[in-house]
Amino acid sequence: MSIDGNVNGAREEALTAEVVRSFAAADPRLKEILSSLVTHLHSFIREIRLTPEEWGAGIDFLTQAGHISDDRRQELILLSDVLGASMQTVLVNAPSNPMATEPTVLGPFFAKGSPLAHEGDDIAREAPGTPCWVEIEVRSESGEPIPSARVEVWGAGDDGLYDVQRNRDTMANRAHFFTGPQGAVRFWSILPSAYPVPADGPVGRLLAATRRSEMRPAHLHFLITAEGYSPLVTHLFVSGDRYLPTDAVFGVRPSLVVDFPEHPAKEPTPDGRPVNGAWRSMSHTFVLAEEGPRREFMAGQGQNLGNY
Ligand SMILES: [Fe+2]
Repeated sequence: MSIDGNVNGAREEALTAEVVRSFAAADPRLKEILSSLVTHLHSFIREIRLTPEEWGAGIDFLTQAGHISDDRRQELILLSDVLGASMQTVLVNAPSNPMATEPTVLGPFFAKGSPLAHEGDDIAREAPGTPCWVEIEVRSESGEPIPSARVEVWGAGDDGLYDVQRNRDTMANRAHFFTGPQGAVRFWSILPSAYPVPADGPVGRLLAATRRSEMRPAHLHFLITAEGYSPLVTHLFVSGDRYLPTDAVFGVRPSLVVDFPEHPAKEPTPDGRPVNGAWRSMSHTFVLAEEGPRREFMAGQGQNLGNY
């Protein structure tokens, strides 16, 4: 790339080429990744004519992001999320079949070892919120029910917190099910609530400096796996949520926004369970893509328990 009027352009281009050549002996994929990264990084620096002071501010930002991170909080994943890099990575690995349910970000609150739950169970336990009856179907692209699919569910309470933020030892509003012969599972959860990403660190200051919302619209997380199908990591968002247009991590897909209708206290619940006051319901059919070559993408996911 050359910059009009930049007398140093040839030297700048030569430097980029020199750094790219330094990766010549690397593993082919590592060489591809680093060569592209350096080429784009150098182009960015040259395009905006980065000053030494701005370079220093960037280094300070990344240093602060590292210092605030620990095994509970991952500021660099949050940075990836708010820059849309996490969602872009989801998109480039998503099934291309438009029939399949769209994926979205895994987020930092997936936890291995969720309790096994069964048809009709209440997974909310001590998580506070309005009771919500959930009916899920899992189907193939041709519409066939998928029995024995593993359905992981997790969500925040109406305090805006996930169980791992309240208490590391007790799981609440988190469970896994296996679909029945008709590819369905039904259970009680709670109405999802919007919550803020942590805004007391450098990423929060970036959001404030750019006048961006720190809120995630209300959603319930799902991770669905079944033999012969690509794993599906997605959310269902609550229609009408005020934060849908400004999700801090760009995870909203219109196809994932669903109704959670309200039912008056007097209306009998689908399974006859007594509840105090009004309750909600939600039903949705997930369509899994047949297994493709990208399945290895999920390997190692779920380790990134952070604090937002
Ligand atoms: Fe979430």
